[in-house]
Amino acid sequence: MPKPTIAVIVGSNRKESINRKYAQALVKLGADKFDATFVRIDDLPMYNQDNEGTLPAEVVRFKDEITRADGVLIVTPEHNRSIPAALNNAVHWGARPFGKSVWPGKLGFITGTSPGTVGTALVQQHLRSVMLGLGMTLLGGEAYVTFKPNLFDDQGNIGDETTQKFLQGFVDRFATLVGQISGKTA
Ligand SMILES: Cc1cc2nc3c(=O)[nH]c(=O)nc-3n(C[C@H](O)[C@H](O)[C@H](O)COP(=O)(O)O)c2cc1C
Repeated sequence: MPKPTIAVIVGSNRKESINRKYAQALVKLGADKFDATFVRIDDLPMYNQDNEGTLPAEVVRFKDEITRADGVLIVTPEHNRSIPAALNNAVHWGARPFGKSVWPGKLGFITGTSPGTVGTALVQQHLRSVMLGLGMTLLGGEAYVTFKPNLFDDQGNIGDETTQKFLQGFVDRFATLVGQISGKTA
């Protein structure tokens, strides 16, 4: 039986993104349960309804990658207490043209990290509201992670045992649900 597939969207377009590192650590926690592919959003053109007639090639690729995946892991920073521009742009392209949205029925897990004490809580609330409105099914619970330099160890794993156990619970529940929905259960 093949493993379920996960498309990973990182909401940051920054080279040294802490959220990309966090996403990579989460993927390691689920390595025996699903196959993950990181989906690019930093090359998507700015959303423009005028371009919906002939979608740019990057947009076609992005929408195909989401459509093919059994689940979507979104790991995002918080920008001005809300959704970063690069991620919002990808959400828009995914939703359009009308009737061709890739989001309905797709199972998602939203999380993120920031150095702030509320650890992306507000962006996650905004994004959940948007993605539920677009028809996604979202994993319950709240995975807000405050970034500290020791969040990752030298191998890129979650460094702290308590945080690792907390996140393993989310990854396991996500993997179980994606397996059940896709029919690819071990
Ligand atoms: C435009 C901008 C707005 C930001 N707003 C917030 C914010 O609202 N809350 C927060 O916790 N951090 C905020 N930050 C700090 C980010 O958490 C920090 O830059 C973090 O490294 C971003 O994640 P990344 O490394 O994955 O890009 C902001 C950073 C930028 C550049």
